[in-house]
Amino acid sequence: MTPVLELFPPGAAVAEGGDLVVAGCRLRDLAAEFGTPAYVVDEGALRERAREYRDELGARWPDALAIFASKAFPCTAVLRAVAEEGLGCDVAGAGELVHAVAAGVDPGCIYLHGNAKTDEDLQRAIDAGVGTVVIDNFDDIDRLERLVRGEQGVLVRVIPRVRPDTHAAVATGQDDSKFGLAARDARRAIERVRGSDRLRLDGLHVHIGSQILDTAPFARAVQALAALGEFAVYDLGGGLGARYTWADHPPTVGEYLDVLVGAAREHLPASARLIVEPGRSLVARAGVTLYRVITVKRGPRTFVAVDGGMADNLEVSLYGQRFEATVADRVGGGEPVDLVGRHCESGDVLSAGVALREPRVGDVIAVPATGAYCFTMRNGYNGARRPPVVFVRDGDARVVVRREGYADLLRLDT
Ligand SMILES: Cc1ncc(COP(=O)(O)O)c(C=O)c1O
Repeated sequence: MTPVLELFPPGAAVAEGGDLVVAGCRLRDLAAEFGTPAYVVDEGALRERAREYRDELGARWPDALAIFASKAFPCTAVLRAVAEEGLGCDVAGAGELVHAVAAGVDPGCIYLHGNAKTDEDLQRAIDAGVGTVVIDNFDDIDRLERLVRGEQGVLVRVIPRVRPDTHAAVATGQDDSKFGLAARDARRAIERVRGSDRLRLDGLHVHIGSQILDTAPFARAVQALAALGEFAVYDLGGGLGARYTWADHPPTVGEYLDVLVGAAREHLPASARLIVEPGRSLVARAGVTLYRVITVKRGPRTFVAVDGGMADNLEVSLYGQRFEATVADRVGGGEPVDLVGRHCESGDVLSAGVALREPRVGDVIAVPATGAYCFTMRNGYNGARRPPVVFVRDGDARVVVRREGYADLLRLDT
């Protein structure tokens, strides 16, 4: 198999004639029908991965729930698909909650996160019947005691003092993290919540970061929770890395859960409810971004410039994340080029030194493994109109988020 194919959704193939096909749809046809740039999501692959998390967790721990970290792809249709496969979701604030509610996620299975939740975030969560608020600071407790009328389930987020090997911007478990409470403060928060007649302390939460390719830090974080006593619920966060290039070898979901649940068996009460909240590793591979080549400039370096870039994929410029790419109808092989975007920064590079076979103006370029955090951080740089999300399945394609039009750029002007 051509190596780049391994990074596309499972089942992606090169058809006779050379066209790359995902979920039965030729990528060039999708580009012609829906325009570029476009986020394409293999709905079957997305659902399959959600089921994998649900089933692999359920097979290892009796009272378990997988919830999708909606920040990885905060799109109503994605949340709906994942919820239909039996997952809950976490939301970081009232905006993501809007999508979760619109998607029909059971409010009892929604977890509200955030290191700076406003009164509005909390009030909207309470009004929606969100089952669990994850307390990150003492002001959360003050606010909840003021706003809650009945009873609200909460978890306390703990800093486990674990620093995984990942980009500093997405490491969240270390001593000086802005997220969560150090053990001493967590104990004080636990005592305060226990003394509250409106807040019900269900347990603890921990999340050490994102794009983590080694499982050992996850186990250390679980161990850190055990020092705080025994609780009914442990939400162990997300963070498993996704495969972006063929040099990446992230653990499988099963391997990751073996370590995580193994640590839970060792350190946590057997009767507890266990929650995991994957984002990136659940959605990354289901997504493919399509672009069209606008110009090829040959010189000391060859620049292949497309009609998108850092307005639809910030992962490269924010975290230096490496992506691979291919011409949609000439897959694999070719010369190393710099695949760059159309935005006014030299850092607007989608993939430096990526091999593309005979790239020409008008070609469709497919960038695999763009399902996580790309749609999330889409932006309007240089007046970019936000791309559509196109679900593909069994040869059918449907738009679940439309492309912004030029009129949308003026929609909020007063
Ligand atoms: C609290 C929390 N849970 C889960 C996640 C999901 O992480 P990932 O997308 O790396 O799985 C995040 C993301 O940073 C998070 O902040």
